[in-house]
Amino acid sequence: MSGRIPREFIDDLLVRVDIVDLIDSHVPLKKAGSSYVARCPFHSEKSPSFSVNRKKQFYHCFGCGAGGNAISFLMAFNHLDFVEAIEDLAGFVGIEVPREAVEYRQQKQDYSALYSILEQAAVFYVEQLRNNPEGVAAVEYLKRRGLSGDIAREFSLGYAPNEWDSLASRFEHKLLVDAGLLISKDDGGGYDRFRGRLMFPIRDKRKRIIGFGARVLDDSLPKYLNSPETSVFSKGRELYGLSELLEKDSKPKRILIVEGYMDVLALAQFGIFYSVAALGTATSKIHLDLLFRFTSEIIFCFDGDAAGKKAAWKAVQEAFPSLKDGRQVRIIFLPEGYDPDSLIREQGIAGFEEQIEGAEALSDYFFGYLSRDINLDTVEGQSALMSNARPYIEKIPAGFFREMMFGRLSGEGVGGALDISKKPAMLNESLIPRQMISKGKKSKASPVRIVVAHLLQSPQLIDVFEQRELDLSTMSFPGLDVLKDVLLAIEEIKPSSSAVLMEYFRGTANEKVVNTLINWDFFILSKGVEAEFLGAVDLMLLQAEESQLNELLTRERESGLDQEERKLLGKMLVKRI
Ligand code: CTP
Ligand code: MN
Repeated sequence: MSGRIPREFIDDLLVRVDIVDLIDSHVPLKKAGSSYVARCPFHSEKSPSFSVNRKKQFYHCFGCGAGGNAISFLMAFNHLDFVEAIEDLAGFVGIEVPREAVEYRQQKQDYSALYSILEQAAVFYVEQLRNNPEGVAAVEYLKRRGLSGDIAREFSLGYAPNEWDSLASRFEHKLLVDAGLLISKDDGGGYDRFRGRLMFPIRDKRKRIIGFGARVLDDSLPKYLNSPETSVFSKGRELYGLSELLEKDSKPKRILIVEGYMDVLALAQFGIFYSVAALGTATSKIHLDLLFRFTSEIIFCFDGDAAGKKAAWKAVQEAFPSLKDGRQVRIIFLPEGYDPDSLIREQGIAGFEEQIEGAEALSDYFFGYLSRDINLDTVEGQSALMSNARPYIEKIPAGFFREMMFGRLSGEGVGGALDISKKPAMLNESLIPRQMISKGKKSKASPVRIVVAHLLQSPQLIDVFEQRELDLSTMSFPGLDVLKDVLLAIEEIKPSSSAVLMEYFRGTANEKVVNTLINWDFFILSKGVEAEFLGAVDLMLLQAEESQLNELLTRERESGLDQEERKLLGKMLVKRI
């Protein structure tokens, strides 16, 4: 790893990029269950064995064994060295690579200049809406759409004059470019990105303006323009209206996710102030986790048409990994032809609240969706439902909700055949990664390797491991060194994802084994990853003891033991009786 690019930057980069998007832009991917597949770009093959996993942020080819994170992919696919790959990846995400740790820190502080220019631009746009004669048309437009002055003020709506340089002539170009407000020209100049549009400032949860949405006042296209991704703005992690919502209620009972800016504004005007909109993208797990920090119930609001149904299924898939106990997701499908804006204007707040009351529970929607073409009166149908549903339910974090979804699955399927509670945490099929089973290499899946694989894939398990208070320094068994290295790495870098952890081992003696284990794919049963992990830890300790016992017995026979060792052997043998 290069010493010159700061580690925090690389970690940050891996958090920002989505490997599915990255690889899809080079090798078109198809969704298959919980991962994405393609024909492997690294060897020639007829059927796809190249798979990309969004949760782990990895790719892996079951055919040729190629695998790694986003950086590894760019290195292999475009034949780049490490630094080049980092630069390309940063370009893909739309940020610049800092060169020294010192610089990086300075750059972080520099964001304050970006926030400040964005704030100044917002103030300018608000002022233009009020005082520029051109702004009258925008005010008229707002009135026509039924929006009050109060709402316009609350959401700091503004107007960007229809000129090329209204910002460019007032503020520093470099800052405007970095803030996404100016489009630079080859000759070094630049022009305003937003012209002749109604401006919707987008704030982060800390109330700072980070970007803008902008709508035309007529039927011209594109209808909406949004800020590009910048150092402070990332569509995949921000939601329109969240800041304004939190201002009113920092712990709302529920939050509605709607599609557009206008929906948020119209709902707020009618008193439903607890809605937010994704910024022209699908809602991501990051969005959901963000919202669940403030509320325990999220209600998705979709159009009743085909596009709405498609978006709903996608959103639900995204929601599963966020569904810890106590969190609830429900879904509204609006009548055809309506969006929240038009519905609440036509039916008033009572009509809209009726929709909210009638929202469908995620579990009902999920089973309904998966059973839609299945005949559940047949064994074939029931087993099809089971195998379709299972990969999704496995993504729910351990807890009652997950248990109940499994329970419902076995209830709807062949009565009780799926008795997940009885799987013991020993080295049976349940502990062994799928790859090893399919390749018939169960023996390679030793308990210590399984333990390490779980730690690599879910670094937070280190807390569970440490609670066992084991003294690894007195132990000796094959694989122990790798385990120790991985534990140290997790303690040191506190990785936010496996991809970050993997990066840490690049170029070290453990790189290969880490890359292999990080790609192992476990069946995690209802008891959850923690129980599976602890089962493997127990087994590892058992085997460690076994091999120590064997070693002592052999030496006793061949060369004799000293007094300490004989005591230990005695103790171990007594324990076994
Ligand atoms: N959107 C976008 N870019 C577009 C069109 C839409 O980013 N070219 C996003 C915006 O966030 C918009 C949302 O998708 O608010 C919904 O778009 P659409 O349904 O077309 O518009 P409405 O929200 O109904 O907008 P309006 O009522 O103003 O026509
Ligand atoms: Mn609309």
